[in-house]
Amino acid sequence: MAHTAHDDHIHTHNFNSQAHTYNERHAIGIQMLTEQLRARVDSIGFPANKTARLLDYACGTGVVSHALAPFVGSIVGIDISENMLSEYAKRAEQEDVEMRGYHGNLTGDDEAPATFASDLFFNFDIVAVGLGFHHFHNPTLAAQRLATRLKTGGKLLIIDNVSEDNGFSHESAEKLFKDAGVAQDFVFSVVDQELQIGRGPTPMMQRVFIAWGSKA
Ligand SMILES: C[S@@+](CC[C@H](N)C(=O)[O-])C[C@H]1O[C@@H](n2cnc3c(N)ncnc32)[C@H](O)[C@@H]1O
Repeated sequence: MAHTAHDDHIHTHNFNSQAHTYNERHAIGIQMLTEQLRARVDSIGFPANKTARLLDYACGTGVVSHALAPFVGSIVGIDISENMLSEYAKRAEQEDVEMRGYHGNLTGDDEAPATFASDLFFNFDIVAVGLGFHHFHNPTLAAQRLATRLKTGGKLLIIDNVSEDNGFSHESAEKLFKDAGVAQDFVFSVVDQELQIGRGPTPMMQRVFIAWGSKA
């Protein structure tokens, strides 16, 4: 699906209004994703002794940060929605790891704001994006921009929809990683349970994948 820069503003608005109820509405899906991510931690390969620095981009309320917190030393979250970041800050208080969220957009057409030029925002061991890539108007540029935030050998980790028009196939995801120079030891792992989005008698069910690759 073609997105425009204007969509970033629409997303900000939509996610701002969803932020306070997000964890509750998606509780079942969040639990499932947390378990599926943790089940892959050994395969993804985190630096030993909880020393990894994680960037959780499009962090939302902190689903990916929470799932990976037991395996890393510190976490930086970034999101374009201020209300999501308020929820992220609440989550950070409960985690037993250094974790802080920042407002901004690293993946738009414009260069990243100067606030993201310091060492704090570079040389990550892992850059993870949970269910964010299908919202980005230029996923290829987004992956390239995020790859610059990784150290050599660091890993890009993407969770997103298995979908031709609102997500990625194995092939299109692999191309995304290759074009960003992070396709070394690429893995595309489809989650066997579908992700429940929302609740009630007819929630939406979505096939998702977890993919990762290293920066050469
Ligand atoms: C479906 S939510 C996923 C949140 C979280 N990663 C998770 O797995 O639950 C998508 C998030 O992407 C954020 N987002 C969308 N476009 C973005 C962009 N260009 N830069 C940063 N965050 C963005 C939204 O504000 C929202 O918090």
